[in-house]
Amino acid sequence: MQNIDNFNFAGKKAIVRVDFNVPLNEEGKITDDTRIRGALPTLKKVLADGGALIIMSHMGKPKGKVNAKYSLSQIVDAVSEKLGVPVQFAPDCAKAADAAAALKAGEVLLLENLRFYPEEEGKPVGIDKADPAYEEAKKAMKASQKEFSKTLASYADCYINDAFGTAHRKHASTAVIADYFDADNKMLGYLMQKEVQAVDNVLSNIKRPFVAIMGGSKVSSKIGIIENLLGKVDKLILCGGMTYTFAKAHGGEIGESIVEMDKLEVALGVEEMAKKNGVELVLSTDCTATNGLDFGTMSVKEGAEIISCPSDKIPAGFEGVDAGAESQKAFAAAIEGAKTILWNGPAGVFECDAFTAGSRAIGEAIAKATAEGAFSLIGGGDSVACVNKFGLADQVSYISTGGGALLEAIEGKVLPGVAAIQG
Ligand code: 3PG
Repeated sequence: MQNIDNFNFAGKKAIVRVDFNVPLNEEGKITDDTRIRGALPTLKKVLADGGALIIMSHMGKPKGKVNAKYSLSQIVDAVSEKLGVPVQFAPDCAKAADAAAALKAGEVLLLENLRFYPEEEGKPVGIDKADPAYEEAKKAMKASQKEFSKTLASYADCYINDAFGTAHRKHASTAVIADYFDADNKMLGYLMQKEVQAVDNVLSNIKRPFVAIMGGSKVSSKIGIIENLLGKVDKLILCGGMTYTFAKAHGGEIGESIVEMDKLEVALGVEEMAKKNGVELVLSTDCTATNGLDFGTMSVKEGAEIISCPSDKIPAGFEGVDAGAESQKAFAAAIEGAKTILWNGPAGVFECDAFTAGSRAIGEAIAKATAEGAFSLIGGGDSVACVNKFGLADQVSYISTGGGALLEAIEGKVLPGVAAIQG
């Protein structure tokens, strides 16, 4: 397998898949640039060698259609500023052959969002799976996905995949494109190497106690990793919105809190499995609740009330939005003394300044345990935004740029983006 360190990019054009799916505010300004900073070592290596760069990424889920909201034109200036060179923009990623051909050593071209083309994801659009014509449509889409990949590949002499955040997707730019380069001309970027190594650190060398913290709103989106972790960890903290599905499963009163009524059995199953595996399960027993959170502006409406109450005794009209004081103490106690820590998902609506306490308690306990020798791995956009917001980024061992990709890697799955290069 080719190694980026051994490759001399002088006089070559490199097409690099990065994950610049960064959060933007309403004015289109980047609110967290971790992913852009993460890709810089790879991009700078190509330029420093005397190569030219064609950078490609997706942003959001435009579902195969052009959508200005997800245009990568919004990040051109930021990428240019961070790279320290002007960045040209190709407004159509599949029609960038001329712009790519004209690139000289040291020049950079950023392609428009790959997902403006359905071929990137390779799923037929506008046809239901139940439709008898679906299989045919799928076959046709796979064929045009190959053509799309071939077009992207034709822009460059070599291919680098540095998009760890998207490595769990078998898409045109993350996997299929690799078929159009021989083994000597395709490689993983530095970020990808670092991320794979960090996961390996956790999985192959687990120092105990191993504590995982899973937050976020839904049990359903985390159940695979939760079940998997129950076979690996010593303690599992479950927090955030999924708290209320657990509370409801035990017949609790949860007011207007987020809940997945069809996952109550699943929640009880998680508790059962934890008991069977001897895993200490830590749930939020109390919470901060409000009757007036404006999710649009992420602020508490004027005149609204904020109360503290048990997570299973939330009054009607109120919703749980953060872990309470008792839970914060329990989280910190569970994290204390840990030697391996994985955190994915916040404990509350941390975007609103009134509801950061639960996530902050977790972040601070992780920083403390890390100072005492733990290896801490933080992944997922929201948890990364938390450690950045609380100024703890340099007090944890590793911040991953992956959300879903990190969780799949921790589950032990082979990531298609890595497999496409490693074979
Ligand atoms: C992410 O934000 O996790 C990655 O960019 C992948 O995005 P996706 O879930 O839309 O494929």
